[in-house]
Amino acid sequence: MRILDAVRAAAETLEKAGIDDSLAGAEILAYHAAALNRMTAFIDNPLISSRTLSKIRRLTARRAKGEPVQYIVGHVEFCGLTIHVGKGVLIPRPETELLVEEAVKTVKSGLIYVNHEKADATDMDSYLTHQSSLSFLDLCTGSGCIALALAKEFPGAEAIGTDISQKALRHARKNADANSIVHITFRKGSLFEPLKQGMMFDLIVSNPPYITAGEIPELQREVRDWEPHNALDGGDDGLDFYREILGKAVGYLKPDGSIIMELGFGQAEAVYVMARKHGLSDAVVIDDFAGIRRILKAKR
Ligand SMILES: C[S@@+](CC[C@H](N)C(=O)[O-])C[C@H]1O[C@@H](n2cnc3c(N)ncnc32)[C@H](O)[C@@H]1O
Repeated sequence: MRILDAVRAAAETLEKAGIDDSLAGAEILAYHAAALNRMTAFIDNPLISSRTLSKIRRLTARRAKGEPVQYIVGHVEFCGLTIHVGKGVLIPRPETELLVEEAVKTVKSGLIYVNHEKADATDMDSYLTHQSSLSFLDLCTGSGCIALALAKEFPGAEAIGTDISQKALRHARKNADANSIVHITFRKGSLFEPLKQGMMFDLIVSNPPYITAGEIPELQREVRDWEPHNALDGGDDGLDFYREILGKAVGYLKPDGSIIMELGFGQAEAVYVMARKHGLSDAVVIDDFAGIRRILKAKR
């Protein structure tokens, strides 16, 4: 059989199983199983071995049961990094790249005066001199995608990620190794709990669980049945983690330090008010590409 015939057959199986985007899913799985890129498959349409065909069928059967494509192929691209994912770890979403982008902009624009020296931080030389002492904390790090993207951008920084899930942290460490990022530490525990006393950061970032408990049964099957609920569940109103993080952030931020968090749909106003109430200043909300108020940024 040729690869494009196998793709067609896989797409039909997925379509019958009621899977959305059946052709796109079939292509990803088939090319992954055959170790081919899309262009080669289209131009050459090579014959595939019976072993490859069995593999495509096995992967397609998993997808037909609702397993996300990213778990089946085992990785996803995030900010130019390959992030390994699997059961027990949230699949990084494209909108989270915006959080990384905002964090990078914040550091580079000198909004964080790293080292607290009187440097003209908008000047690139002084920025480069001082970035080596940047310290940042990623709460709810999961696969480590945010922390690793920032650590790649600021290789001299002191980077810490915390998460309550051992499985997630196993992936985070694997992702650090896979992307040759050495200056990063992952610690297990709830939010700030695993930090040594007195630790302070120039930057805190977080994409915490923010789905309301009541919405979880209504989620897409791929998410509800496959992704870890402790990565999704933000309590009755979805705001539990923002309350806890913002309630403590000032105690962990250096003067002029920034906090940048991803927000769920419709949560911007409540979280903005919370940030102000807990003594943070210069709070702003940034929209994502779909026009959803997605990121909150504030300063100590
Ligand atoms: C929405 S996911 C974010 C994962 C990753 N940062 C990302 O953006 O893809 C939330 C993460 O919070 C973790 N988590 C849940 N409760 C936690 C807690 N009390 N303290 C720390 N992490 C927690 C989950 O294990 C999960 O990895």
